[in-house]
Amino acid sequence: MEIEANAFPKLLVRPVIVVTTVSERGIPNAAPFSFSSPISFEPPLFGFSCSPEHDTWKNIQANGEFVANVVGRDLGEKMHILEQDFPYEENELKHASLTEVAAKKVKPPRIKEAKAWIECKMERSVELGDHIWIVGRVLCAEVKDEFWNGVLNVERAEILAHISGEFFAEGMRIAKYKRAK
Ligand SMILES: Cc1cc2nc3c(=O)[nH]c(=O)nc-3n(C[C@H](O)[C@H](O)[C@H](O)COP(=O)(O)O)c2cc1C
Repeated sequence: MEIEANAFPKLLVRPVIVVTTVSERGIPNAAPFSFSSPISFEPPLFGFSCSPEHDTWKNIQANGEFVANVVGRDLGEKMHILEQDFPYEENELKHASLTEVAAKKVKPPRIKEAKAWIECKMERSVELGDHIWIVGRVLCAEVKDEFWNGVLNVERAEILAHISGEFFAEGMRIAKYKRAK
């Protein structure tokens, strides 16, 4: 089956992160993203692709800070709330009944109900196609103890992944393949 070239993301399953940012007045914003990737170990760099119209981008341009909250399927039903286009400075976390907790290194809050948090400060941004690729330096990365097993315990955390639109993937299993010495 050949599909439209611009439908290619439907062939890739990607973890959902909810990015939290704050406006200049300190009002939080939260939005789900799945066009994201680690970029570098040293320095630790993380990137995600954001439409230039999003409030997330407006806030990051204002102060450069964001938290990538790694979420599970328990937040799946919240996605349609978080992805709504609320007016600027309307706090999506309140609409979605999610709890803000202070981050360690940046002003935007963490989401308490997330499984792990990656706190970042923007290093640079690049306009690529119809999105902005935002590169953040990771200042702090933390995972809830019960979801850590030397790596993220995806089974216990019941990590949520996105395919396209209303389609998500859940139910990941851990597999470990031996490496050649
Ligand atoms: C699971 C999921 C993944 C998404 N991934 C992206 C993405 O990678 N990039 C993007 O620009 N928008 C993405 N969106 C859409 C934004 O979350 C949505 O437009 C949101 O309203 C933007 O919020 P903001 O204006 O508060 O920043 C995604 C939506 C969902 C539900």
